[in-house]
Amino acid sequence: MRVGVLTGGGDCPGLNAVIRAVVRKGVQQYGYDFIGFRDGWRGPMEGDTVPLDIPAVRGILPRGGTILGSSRTNPLKSEGGIRQIKENLAKHEVDALIAIGGEDTLGVAAQLADEYGIKVVGVPKTIDNDLSATDYTFGFDTAVNIATEAIDRLHTTAESHMRVLVVEVMGRHAGWIALHSGLAGGANVILIPEQRFDVAKVCAWVESRFKVRYAPIVVVAEGAMPRDGDMVLKDESLDAFGHVRLSGVGEWLAKEIERRTGKEARTTVLGHVQRGGTPSAFDRWLASRFGLHAIEAVRDGDWGKMVALRGTDIVRVPISEATAKLKTVDPAEYAEAEVFFG
Ligand code: F6P
Repeated sequence: MRVGVLTGGGDCPGLNAVIRAVVRKGVQQYGYDFIGFRDGWRGPMEGDTVPLDIPAVRGILPRGGTILGSSRTNPLKSEGGIRQIKENLAKHEVDALIAIGGEDTLGVAAQLADEYGIKVVGVPKTIDNDLSATDYTFGFDTAVNIATEAIDRLHTTAESHMRVLVVEVMGRHAGWIALHSGLAGGANVILIPEQRFDVAKVCAWVESRFKVRYAPIVVVAEGAMPRDGDMVLKDESLDAFGHVRLSGVGEWLAKEIERRTGKEARTTVLGHVQRGGTPSAFDRWLASRFGLHAIEAVRDGDWGKMVALRGTDIVRVPISEATAKLKTVDPAEYAEAEVFFG
């Protein structure tokens, strides 16, 4: 059995831990061969491969990024993309593919499995934690820890200058990173994409903080939108999966706060820092277990399935089901945090 492995979409901490677990168990327990495909779906489309064996995965557990490289290449949008993938899998004698990715990469994997009969198993990754069917994706915990540390640091400088500090975090159309890091970091306002925000209310919370001589920290998710108005974007271009590049709301909000309250307001955009560097212990644990269970699914011939975390168990679910719906923040969970606002 020869198994191909690829990592697609935005990179996230823990990808290497999955690759290592898949290869270690696959070689040691099942005697499989592996081949790595470079840069997500671009690898199998163009036949760009890299050797993948036990020496290749030594020492990569704590390393961020992905040794296989990643991209947002969409074979469904490229003329002849699927045919090329089939040809290259046959040429390299690949019997099965493990696709490690988020909503987009796994969306392609689901179609390849369900419509084209390609033997694929999926592993969910994304710092956004927005994949339904799994309680957590790996990468999320690391991103939340990085954002929380940034918020802690911003508190002390905000207090010294008595200014408002707005922190824009990633998460695309889900507010998980904002909610978790905002709560953990003691933010005074948390704004998420799932609920449009009222700028007047944000300003009232900011002013109430200043009354107790305490400088406010406003955590805003990159996908959050004001109640009266459209999404604020710095860049309107789309990626290969048709997504806008989010970012800009933090800067816009700081200007609005300054204009309406007269208090100095500045913005920190955390951006890709949230995706970089070494994975947290939780993400290493989750990614390793996902890898071990993914190669087990290959052994069982359980094609079109994705490994998922339910409580502390790893289960298998159809990839198509897992990518059909985004997992967003429940209004009741967001409401819990409101007691800390203002
Ligand atoms: O999906 C992960 C993510 O980091 C999102 O939070 C963010 O909106 C997007 O990727 C950024 O993508 P890129 O790295 O392509 O700019």
